[in-house]
Formats: sequence, structure tokens, C-alpha cells
Amino acid sequence: MKKKIFLCTYGCQMNEYDSELIESILTADGFVLAADIQDADIILLNTCAVRNNAERKVFNHIDDIRHELQGKPVYIGILGCVATHLKEQIIKNKKRKIDFVVGPDSYRQLPDIIRKVIKENEKIFDVSLTTKENYEDITPTRKEGINAWVAVMRGCDNFCTFCVVPYTRGRERSRPMENILDEVRSLAAKGHPQVTFLGQNVNSYHDNQFDFADLLEATSAIEGIKRIRFMSPHPKDYLEKLINVVANNPKICKHIHLPLQAGNDRILQLMNRGYTKADYLSLVDKLYSHIPGLTLTTDIIVGFPTETDADFLDTVEVMEKVRFASAFIFKYSERKGTIAAKKYPDDVPEEKKTERIMKLNDLQKRISFEKNRSWIGKTLPVLVESETIAKGATQFQGRSDGYVTVVFPPGNYKAGDIVNVTIQEASSHWLKGIHHTPDA
Ligand code: SAH
Ligand code: SF4
Ligand code: F3S
Repeated sequence: MKKKIFLCTYGCQMNEYDSELIESILTADGFVLAADIQDADIILLNTCAVRNNAERKVFNHIDDIRHELQGKPVYIGILGCVATHLKEQIIKNKKRKIDFVVGPDSYRQLPDIIRKVIKENEKIFDVSLTTKENYEDITPTRKEGINAWVAVMRGCDNFCTFCVVPYTRGRERSRPMENILDEVRSLAAKGHPQVTFLGQNVNSYHDNQFDFADLLEATSAIEGIKRIRFMSPHPKDYLEKLINVVANNPKICKHIHLPLQAGNDRILQLMNRGYTKADYLSLVDKLYSHIPGLTLTTDIIVGFPTETDADFLDTVEVMEKVRFASAFIFKYSERKGTIAAKKYPDDVPEEKKTERIMKLNDLQKRISFEKNRSWIGKTLPVLVESETIAKGATQFQGRSDGYVTVVFPPGNYKAGDIVNVTIQEASSHWLKGIHHTPDA
């Protein structure tokens, strides 16, 4: 009988994409997807290790699964970034009884590994990283929807001192451009009007011939693709050529997620980010002046080792100057094996981190609200994503070019259409409006 797999995904969009690859690899090899945990023979957890609570969530989930199954036998495999981060430690974790651990570069081996685990009842461990694996010949099993994720490069060579990703995902490598374009053509033919290019450092994409700007240009020529997004770019790789392509190509969304991490030069240097506050601000000026209507969003870490109240004020200052549309703000979390964990004691007290994160969240909420309010009365092209029920009434939901969620009443359109919506109401998280037909 065919073995049934249940797959849970944590972490970033790259992991979401990898889960689509994993499903594709396993189903091509005769495994089938289980309806739920009870129905599964094998449970796979595709994990994230970026912060401490990400890992804890995975282990709590395993405890919940064991509890829910009440002794029913099941094989449990840990995939993704916790696999390469904790390595043998996971297998040694007696409480959780993990059967196999497989890192992000070894998913092709999964069918063999699972068969071996079942047949020989032994624990298997494969967390080797390569410099080549790109899974470029595998077509991911896509979820229904408007957007399709496409990983264009994998790995990271930047070694920001706080970050586990270079260790969990290995070195940077890019797929050949033609291979990516083939994938996008087939996505367009299957009815995905939007692609989002993914990479830990997406704008350092280079296939030895073509760079990221070339890839964006070539993608925009594909019929059926209406919008192109990408994440996450690194500020150090924002070259003139890329700025011009984003500015001049109508299919490329005028939204850039540009992780800042911190505003203070000393902290940025300890983080090994490769730019100063002035560099970041001048890049922002350049982006705003070349790309009209641009929306910027960001990631920030508070409480990096040795960060003082005065250092923190530099982050506040950058946020006030740039006025991001939204921001993911995190407390520094020491990660085993990173340079920061080896060199800098995690010395900012928890209460300080809480105080700083609350301050930035309040500031961001105010800015997001002000920015969203400024759209009231304006008409925005919105890519329709789905129907939702709000307060008992059917509503449509989509995103503006700048990635803000827009809610509007049903009309003569469907998911995948771009419609003009005139904004009437705003909160810090969404816009509400009415569909506006120019000829009405
Ligand atoms: N490649 C992307 C980010 C990947 S991780 C980039 O370079 O910007 C996503 C975010 O998690 C990071 O931008 C950072 O803000 C946060 N993060 C990473 N490591 C962290 C740590 N040790 N503690 C707290 N936040 C962290
Ligand atoms: Fe981590 Fe820095 Fe690489 Fe981003 S660029 S994945 S933060 S090491
Ligand atoms: Fe997490 Fe790995 Fe992504 S650590 S953020 S799942 S690259």
C-alpha cells in the first residue's frame, strides 16, 4: 500500500516553496498526501531556525502530534533549517523520537531515506550542503492561487553575524535564467498572473551570464504574467541597472522589501551588514526619487548585543525618515554557531528588548496608518486574490502594487483580474474601497 505523508511548513516563503518541491518529489515516487495527521504514516516538518521561538514552535508541535495520535505509530522526519542547524542533536532528543533528519540540499534523497527508515527501522541523518543543488529540474506541486513562488537562487554568503541562514542553507547558487523563464511560462499558462522570485539574497542572483535585472526584464516579456515581485533583496546589491528596471517596467511591482536591521553604524558593523546609516538613507533617497510611488517595507532587530538606548534612537530616526509602509520587528535571538553568538554576549536585558520592540511597533503602526490614510480618495490598480466574508457579507480581497491589502465589494470580476479600486477607508493594515470603472 502507498505510504501517506503529512507535511507541515514553518518559516519563510523559501520553505513554502521547498515544501512544494518536497511534495512533488515524493508523489512522483509513489507516496500520497494524507488528509490529516491521523491519516498519515509519515509526518514531515519543514522547519525554521531563524529565531529561538521558531524552533520551540516545532518541538511543541511534535509534542502535540504525539499527544493527538495517542500512541498510534508514525514516522516523524525533521526537514529544513532546524535539521542543518541542530544536526545530531535532534536524533539524540529522546523525548521527541525523531526518525530522520534531512537538510535543504538533500530532498531528492527523501523517498529512499523514508523507505530505508521503514524497512530497516533505523534512524537516518542527511544534512550535507552542496554548492550546486537548485532543484531546477523539479516542478513544484503548486497550491491554487494567484501568486506562484519561484526560487531563483538559494543560500547566502553574507554571514550577517546574527543569522543562521548561511549555515542552514549553505552557499549562494543561482539557477540558469532560461530554466527560470521556462518555469514562469508554464505558470502563466496554468493561470498564475503573479510570480514572486525568492532568494535569501535575491538581487545577488547571477547565473554567470545574466543578473537579476536581466531576469526581471526577460520575465516581464512573458505573456500572462501581470505582476512580478521579489524578496528579499539586500541593500548592498542595489545597482543602478536594477533600479532602472524596477522604475521603468510596469509589470514589476513598485514595492521593495529592504531589510534595515538597525540604524546605528557601530551596530550595523557588528552585524556585518556592509552598509552605514548614511549608505542606507542615500539608497532610499535614490529609490524614492527614481521609482515614483515606491513602497518600502523592512525587517528590524532590536537589542543586538551592546545596543544602547542612544544606538537604538538611530533606528527610530531611520524609521521616521524612511517611513516604511510596514515592518517586521524582532528581538535579537542568539543563535548557536553564529559569529555573534561566539563573539558578543547577549547582554541587552529582555525588558529593554521588550521596551524597544513596543516603541518601534507603535511608531510603525502610526506611520502605516498615516501612509494608508493618504490613499483615501485615490484609485489603485488591485490584483484580485480571493473572496472573503466580512461581517456576514461577501467581499473581495487583493493587493495594491505596493503590497497593501485592499478589500472591496463583489462585482463583475474574478481572482487574477486587475481592477481599479477607489479607496474610501484605511487602517494600519488594510484599505477599503469601491470598484471604480473608468467609463462608468
Ligand atoms: N535574507 C534576508 C533575511 C532573512 S531572515 C535579509 O538579509 O534581509 C529574516 C529576518 O529575520 C531578518 O531580516 C532579520 O530581521 C530576522 N533575524 C534573522 N536572524 C535573527 C536573529 N538571530 N534574531 C532576531 N531576528 C533575526
Ligand atoms: Fe541572514 Fe544576512 Fe544572509 Fe539575510 S543576508 S540570510 S540576514 S546572513
Ligand atoms: Fe527560517 Fe530557514 Fe527561512 S531559518 S527564515 S526557514 S531560510
